[in-house]
Amino acid sequence: MNADQKNALYADATKELASITEGETNVTALMATVSCVLAEKFDYYFWTGFYIVDPIKQNELVVGPYQGTLGCLRIPFGRGVCGTVAATQKSCVVDDVHAFPGHIACDSRSNSEVVVPVFDRTGALIAVFDVDSVETGSFDDIDKTALEAIMAQVFAR
Ligand code: SME
Repeated sequence: MNADQKNALYADATKELASITEGETNVTALMATVSCVLAEKFDYYFWTGFYIVDPIKQNELVVGPYQGTLGCLRIPFGRGVCGTVAATQKSCVVDDVHAFPGHIACDSRSNSEVVVPVFDRTGALIAVFDVDSVETGSFDDIDKTALEAIMAQVFAR
């Protein structure tokens, strides 16, 4: 998929999500809807979903709404790509997950991924959003920037 096609699909998804989620404040409903809309829109999304900051164990992520094959239930902050993004609060694009130190292989078919932090309107980290692909190098700055904007639009408003 070229950059123009990617940008067009993200523009569609952003518009659709704005209208579907308007007025909804339930975080589970929002996460389920974002996962579903994005997974349906992009053929190269293999696993699409949220890891939520555990309200009890603050340094641990617990799996939230997702689309795809079975995900690991818990990821400590600092471990793998999701745990690194939770610890640093900075997005991460990984071309080859097998070259990422400490990568957690929930499904061995995943080869590349993008993970972005999810903040609420106070700026607190509430989750990370993780997308995995079976191809290497599926994600770039377009995915990262668009996903960050979608998370801000849906969860920080
Ligand atoms: N790839 C992630 C783990 C979660 S899943 O693949 C669903 C990681 O290393 O953070």
